[in-house]
Amino acid sequence: MFVFLRLPLLLAVATLVGCAATPGTAELDALTRTIAQSSFRDRGVAKLDRLQQDEANRLCSAADVAGAPLDDASAKALEAASLKTIRAPSDGRYLGDWKSGERIAQNGRGLTWTDKEGDVNGGNCYNCHQISQQELSYGTLGPSLYQYGKLRGVTDPASPEARAMVEYTWGKLWNARAFNACSNMPRFGHNGILNEAQIKDIMALLLDPKSPVNQ
Ligand code: HEC
Repeated sequence: MFVFLRLPLLLAVATLVGCAATPGTAELDALTRTIAQSSFRDRGVAKLDRLQQDEANRLCSAADVAGAPLDDASAKALEAASLKTIRAPSDGRYLGDWKSGERIAQNGRGLTWTDKEGDVNGGNCYNCHQISQQELSYGTLGPSLYQYGKLRGVTDPASPEARAMVEYTWGKLWNARAFNACSNMPRFGHNGILNEAQIKDIMALLLDPKSPVNQ
């Protein structure tokens, strides 16, 4: 989204901050909301509703502002609520095609105002994770996923022994907050960023013994 700052509003804020007694947190929050609301506008698929935080983002942002981790009770409640949002694959098959998974992991496109309603998004995984060793450019906000399945002992993803790891990985991709309340990882399934078929392909990239990730 582009930012169109409105000068009169900025001047009003400058005056308030400059002349009046120091505003409190609540006042500053309200001002920030007003500025954000008036600075953005709907454009294509990027709509102003993105400024509304859901409960999870609201709680985690408040904890960030307070400079302390989210309290245990709230974190547990948030994880439990997030766990309930996870939907297992409709046909019971968790793994798709790792080659397609690699392309989705590489693709950082989607959800900007130049994208169309219904366009297929990328997963942008390399922005935060190392995955295949062949890709030299990756971010390190998240842990390395190189040899993800191999290191976790998954030799046959369809076997009963692999079930727990397969379900956990699916859940993590669907809604990362189910296992870490204030996770920074996008909630791919929950927020409709990736569809079921795409998540299956990513699953194969991480867990298929034939995937380059597990060599
Ligand atoms: C904005 C950064 C970001 C993006 C993009 C991102 N992740 Fe993550 N991911 C993280 C962080 C941070 C963690 C570790 C904290 C946590 O568990 O939530 C993580 C954890 C994980 C884990 C759990 C690892 C473990 O050992 O349990 C998996 C699996 C994972 N990510 C896969 C993916 C895949 C696949 C994609 C792309 C579809 C992706 N991530 C995109 C930030 C990101």
